[in-house]
Amino acid sequence: MQLSFLFGFCEWNFNLSLWLRLEVLAESRGKTNTCVDKHLKAAAEFIENTGILARTDIIPSLNAEMASADVSFDEILTALSDNKVLAKKVLAVANSAWFASRVKIESVEYAFARLGINEFYSVVLTATLRHGFGEGPPANLTWAHAEMTARVCQLLAQHFSEALVELAFATGLLHDCAVPLMVKSLTNFENLVKPSLGCGLSVNQLEEERFEFNHAQVGAVLVEAWQFPVMCARAIEFHHRGSLAEAPEGEARRLLALLILAERVAAVCSCEIMTPFDSKHDTVLVGEIAEVLDADLVRIYHVIDEAVRMYSIRLAHL
Ligand SMILES: [Fe+2]
Ligand SMILES: [Fe+2]
Repeated sequence: MQLSFLFGFCEWNFNLSLWLRLEVLAESRGKTNTCVDKHLKAAAEFIENTGILARTDIIPSLNAEMASADVSFDEILTALSDNKVLAKKVLAVANSAWFASRVKIESVEYAFARLGINEFYSVVLTATLRHGFGEGPPANLTWAHAEMTARVCQLLAQHFSEALVELAFATGLLHDCAVPLMVKSLTNFENLVKPSLGCGLSVNQLEEERFEFNHAQVGAVLVEAWQFPVMCARAIEFHHRGSLAEAPEGEARRLLALLILAERVAAVCSCEIMTPFDSKHDTVLVGEIAEVLDADLVRIYHVIDEAVRMYSIRLAHL
């Protein structure tokens, strides 16, 4: 059944491309879950009302560019030359600790030449998110967490799923992108910021008790609207479920396994938790992760230790 029938398309004045992407997201689920679809519909309406898609409209162009056979970034470079504020943010990110080049980067053209396609894409994406969602304490907390998770997720993909390396970075970066939007636009969200950025399992339920949707659903609809591969949206939608069992099988489940692992590593590095998996429930979860990533637990814990060591040092120097 199409979402347009379920939700009564004519009654809603949504951005058409957002609506079409929402249908892709629903179809990727394989079966329609009316309750969850109701939340996704409310999330899409919320997104539409914030105007965030207009402030981040360079992201679908970035993704289209990356998907093309001949990546030139000509359109992106032109868009950046027309948007001085975003271009300034791109330079700030390119010269930041996470992307640090030994030579100071003073123009976006030089950033592209110096960083290469993949790093330039990551820089422009990071800068656009910071620009589109704004700065301030909750947003800065989100981006610090997101950038750390993105790097760890990328490293874990290098160990366990080489084909997902680029998407792992984007998924880590985007997984909590709804948080600054929700704290800015909704009253009564402020005390849910930290739980939303943490590894807890109950936050989505708390959000749904106050609002009609949670930040994982808003994030999933946003990445669909920005035209990331649908597996990215599915991994984000499930990132607080605490189990891989309900997640779609295949690459989406592998991406989710990497994301959950990355969040645990990031939380240990930031001293939010002492050990990545310590409860009975966690023992089951890490077993599921090992199975999905085709790795034994010894290897999983060995890579976790290596990532914690590497990123704890990195964090100390940021
Ligand atoms: Fe989250
Ligand atoms: Fe998170």
